[in-house]
Amino acid sequence: MMHGVLVKLSIIWHIINYQMITKIKAAVEYIQNKYPAKPLVGIVLGSGLGSFTNEMKIEQEIAYSEIPHFPLSTVEGHSGKLIFGELGGKQVVAMAGRFHYYEGYTAEEVVFPIRAMKFLGISTLLISNAAGGMNLDFEVGNLMVIKDHISLFTPNPLIGENIAALGTRFPDMSQPYSKILINKAKAIAARENIDLKEGVYCGVTGPTFETRAEYKLLNIIGGDAVGMSTVQEVIAAVHMGLTVFAISVITDIGIREEENKITHAEVLLAAKEAEPKLTHIFKELIAGL
Ligand code: HPA
Repeated sequence: MMHGVLVKLSIIWHIINYQMITKIKAAVEYIQNKYPAKPLVGIVLGSGLGSFTNEMKIEQEIAYSEIPHFPLSTVEGHSGKLIFGELGGKQVVAMAGRFHYYEGYTAEEVVFPIRAMKFLGISTLLISNAAGGMNLDFEVGNLMVIKDHISLFTPNPLIGENIAALGTRFPDMSQPYSKILINKAKAIAARENIDLKEGVYCGVTGPTFETRAEYKLLNIIGGDAVGMSTVQEVIAAVHMGLTVFAISVITDIGIREEENKITHAEVLLAAKEAEPKLTHIFKELIAGL
């Protein structure tokens, strides 16, 4: 009896897995029909960091809404698109707009574009995000290279039967962020006089910003910055063997604010101001790949 149930469950999971690969392949086939060149690098652009693509020689843009099986955007005016082109002499694909868990997407939906980019051919993934600072040495507008993360309350995107075509059942997470790229970024920052911080990113669900007690807690457990994205994307990327590099733009120092409230507008403004530094580091990293 029990065995029968397990067999049925196993069959269901195999069908779901098969469907996942089929969906990724359908999305990739659609994209490749519109843009056949193979990108080497995937880039995820965080809140307020979209004008990065001004630096690209853009060759094709594809709206998420037209790609089969891409999650449907729930937020008006936040349609999102893949932007293909050349940067630093390399073929790249940039995600202008990402899917957040707080918008109501499943963890699997959040990471679908990352998986699609891997199947398009990328081997390196560069991620940016806006984050709240908890390290008292940080200031608004600082960049923080992510050396490690703590996943808090967002479901792991690999839950369910493992999809062996993507990666192993129990991925190692001892060094999710490439040490080589971290060191290269530090060298670029030193050369350009960019004050590049380094720290641990806490990934939370949002959409609320943290309470004072929560900022304090996250600091005590080892977090230097906190944000509502990135961790699920990094897990999916590491699962597939991608080389990952990520930077947070520190848009507020929640732990320090006594009177000020944190607003989305403030976060976007701080991100915009820090963007040229981030763009520079990404561009140089790509040129050196
Ligand atoms: N908390 C969570 N996410 C954020 C923050 C923050 O303070 N700032 C920008 N994104």
